[in-house]
Amino acid sequence: MKVTLKVNGRVCSADVEPRKTLLDAIREDLALVGSHAGCEHGVCGACTVLLEGEPVRSCLMFAVQADGYEITTIEGLAPAPGELSVVQDAFCETHGLQCGYCTSGMILTGHALLQRTPEPTREEIVEAISGNICRCTGYGQIVEAIEFAGERLRKANAPRGSKGVDANQPHVDLSAETDAPQEGVLKAAQADTPHGGRP
Ligand code: FES
Ligand code: FES
Repeated sequence: MKVTLKVNGRVCSADVEPRKTLLDAIREDLALVGSHAGCEHGVCGACTVLLEGEPVRSCLMFAVQADGYEITTIEGLAPAPGELSVVQDAFCETHGLQCGYCTSGMILTGHALLQRTPEPTREEIVEAISGNICRCTGYGQIVEAIEFAGERLRKANAPRGSKGVDANQPHVDLSAETDAPQEGVLKAAQADTPHGGRP
């Protein structure tokens, strides 16, 4: 059967068997292998993708059921090649991953949570990721990563009264303003460079 999938903003057509799962279509037909096959029966969350912005288990859906819907995979979160979204960056900073098998599902789940709940409580984060299994981290750093990403997005929102920051946007160094080096520190830094920082 011919299906048309809108994946990461691109319209892709594929010829699939009716019994083919969305996960297999994404990995095999579209070559987007960031969505992982774990249990393949709806338990682990490694296959999570966003369908119209909501996390779903792509191993439990047939590709034909997703025909015409907007799908986001982990490959679609990065704002540009070589860049990371705020949530992805937060996972790196807090060491929210080890083997990485659960990571794409965790990040997409965290991303979706922050889109609908910009300031989630710890309990809400735990609840949101409760359907995603991680064998490595003990979950603490994953929760921390989502909290951290939420904090960054809120801070990025605050100063200039902008209407909102998309979690897809590249990481903004929020410490730049508040932690700007004082004059004396700059001089000390220049003194460490050849020619005292002068060309
Ligand atoms: S692979 Fe889909 S839930 Fe485990
Ligand atoms: S980082 Fe290994 S399963 Fe989560």
